[in-house]
Amino acid sequence: MIKFDEKRRVFNLSNDSFSYIFHINKLNYLIHLYAGAKLNDFGIERMNERYIERYAYLENGKEVCDESYYFSEQGSLFECASNLKGDKRGAFAIIRHKDGSRITNFKYFSHKIIKGKESPVGLPHFRIKNNSEAETLVVTLKDEFDEIYLDLFYTLFSSKDALVRFSRLRNKTGSSIFIEKLSSLQLDRVNSNYDLVSSHGQWGDDRELEVTQIGHSKICVNDNHGGRGFRQNPSILIKERDANYDYGEVMAFSLVYSGNFKFEIGLDEYDQLRVLALINDESFDYEVKNGENFDAPECLMVYSNKGINRVTQQMHDIIRDNLLPQQFAFKERPILINSWEPFMFDFDTEKIKKLILDAKELGIEEVVLDDGWFGDRKDDKRALGDWFINSNKINLKEVVDFAHNQNMKFGLWIEPEMISPDSELFRKKPNFALANPNKKPTLLRHQLVLDLANDKIVEDTFKQFCEIFDQIPFDYVKWDFNRYLTDIYSNFLGSEKEGEVFHRFMLGSYKLLDMFTKRYPNILLETCASGGGRFDLGMMYYSSQIWGSDETNPLSRVMIQFATNVFYPLSTIGAHVSAANSLTIQDKIITSAFGTFGYELNPSKLTKDEKEKIKTFNKLIKEHHHVVTCGDYYVLNSPYLTNYASWMCVTKDKKEALVFNFVFKREQTKGRFLKLKGLKPDANYFNSLTNDVYKGDFYMKVGLNLSAPLTDGMTMLFVLKEVNPLVKTIANKKAEQAKREKLL
Ligand code: DGJ
Repeated sequence: MIKFDEKRRVFNLSNDSFSYIFHINKLNYLIHLYAGAKLNDFGIERMNERYIERYAYLENGKEVCDESYYFSEQGSLFECASNLKGDKRGAFAIIRHKDGSRITNFKYFSHKIIKGKESPVGLPHFRIKNNSEAETLVVTLKDEFDEIYLDLFYTLFSSKDALVRFSRLRNKTGSSIFIEKLSSLQLDRVNSNYDLVSSHGQWGDDRELEVTQIGHSKICVNDNHGGRGFRQNPSILIKERDANYDYGEVMAFSLVYSGNFKFEIGLDEYDQLRVLALINDESFDYEVKNGENFDAPECLMVYSNKGINRVTQQMHDIIRDNLLPQQFAFKERPILINSWEPFMFDFDTEKIKKLILDAKELGIEEVVLDDGWFGDRKDDKRALGDWFINSNKINLKEVVDFAHNQNMKFGLWIEPEMISPDSELFRKKPNFALANPNKKPTLLRHQLVLDLANDKIVEDTFKQFCEIFDQIPFDYVKWDFNRYLTDIYSNFLGSEKEGEVFHRFMLGSYKLLDMFTKRYPNILLETCASGGGRFDLGMMYYSSQIWGSDETNPLSRVMIQFATNVFYPLSTIGAHVSAANSLTIQDKIITSAFGTFGYELNPSKLTKDEKEKIKTFNKLIKEHHHVVTCGDYYVLNSPYLTNYASWMCVTKDKKEALVFNFVFKREQTKGRFLKLKGLKPDANYFNSLTNDVYKGDFYMKVGLNLSAPLTDGMTMLFVLKEVNPLVKTIANKKAEQAKREKLL
């Protein structure tokens, strides 16, 4: 898949449908040529010839200029832009050298092509099952002036229109150097008609899409909260202005990183696009000692020339196939019920046992005990860091055994990165918190953050959890993270290295997650940050699902899920039905069915009718879970453009589909058809809502007939199943008869 043309010095990374091409120019710069649908023939001379400057430099007091060679530092498309040289569009890297200089000019040094893939050390990354799945090109660049090497990694997967990239800086200068900025990916591209689709949010409105026209003022999509990514999310789309869900060029970029990140996006004076993806360089200053390396996180790039739906499907596929913990990625997830909304901190052994029995009765398969089971945690003001069971409140071993005897699973909530000032841990070790002792720290939700930049604290924390999880066989963990980082100061690193705290904190968090998931590989992990503030590919390496939002009202939930679905597989989005006073239980269930499904309510407060609905839908959801967990996702109507949010999931073999339609504002009767996508045109599909059978072709060209009055918040679920033609005739006859009887 990856070829190097020695004569033309061209790297061609191509699989059956995607090509990424660049070359080494005469001055040894890496020049980007092409990224897009598979390209079979190209001429680099033609692709490069728009610059009309002669390139000159000063050597030993004399101007050196190759009269025959035309090259512009200012306008060429680079794979790795220099710093403080002729390219002013944003440096790939800024490195402070021993003499204080920040000039770097990385040029080709060597390269190798390897089967399989290499990954950044200590960071989450895409995985491969075997070496035939991917090939990796490693191009080593060397700074023109110093012994600093930069390895650029490009992994191409055989069956995906995607590249995974990262960079590794190696210091051989003989003394320390300091990284002030280091990108994972640079993409320079001709043409200017691009829009950016990013997402942002806050608690309760966890994700919302935003479209921004990309112009000549640089756009920064970034976050600096240090691990709770509501404000902006590290996944973006760049699309041609007229591209839509099914048409046009769209590229997705997503960092495999949960800490501070940044995308720099903008056009240059020649209307060419530059995209840089990196760890946010704000308050970032990282020492790399002589002989040491620094790895930037991976960044995924996905390409489609068939619109957003195709990019979304590719993202979902590569995340499921190559990132999520594989023991859970395609597995049916148990329907769970969480104690938080029904009980908050007010529970005991008997209450939880009753919850287990009530839940079982409804066809729920797992009970999760949320916050409040440890130390003196009677409210959210105390005890984080005191990870020992409060046996006066609950006998956890008894409860878990009880659940297992009832054939139910049992899960537990934890929040390992945090410390309450009112805790035994803080009283003993106040310097375990991130805070400068001379500057009073900010409390958020009454808590501080543990200094996980320090390995000892990571290990101590891990040991506390082992004492519990070694004793009690939990099936699931909800790993929460309820405040963002402030007071970025470690009491252990030393004054020279305080610029490393953010990143080292992230490395420590990953280490803790890594140790935990390796020791307890059968525990299904769901991460969370005050609701859905944890959505990123870094977390997905460890946790198969992430809590979507504390907001469970379908009117807002649908918007949050719609925005999250663009980038992340539906199976990763924790979606629960709560007792919150909004719409009907059926509407809430149908909305949550398009995520990892569960409940946050007290079953003993449900009406008989609600209980019956829950039982019926639980069966339906279990029967069709694989359509959502493993299928292809299509947007049918965007709530940003219409009064509906409509989407569907289709199994890979196209034999089953689930269709969702949500109505925001009531509408009178209108001629209204919902056209479906992704079905087999010639197959017959039985529609469980109307009980009739039509061909896929009909559903895709004419659609489902929704020409009746629609009410506010009306939620519809259609199940389509391929059937043989005989069933078609019988079913249609029955449906006809039923309709006639209704009319009579
Ligand atoms: C925030 C989460 O989003 C909630 O679901 C719950 O787990 C609380 N934290 C517990 O403190």
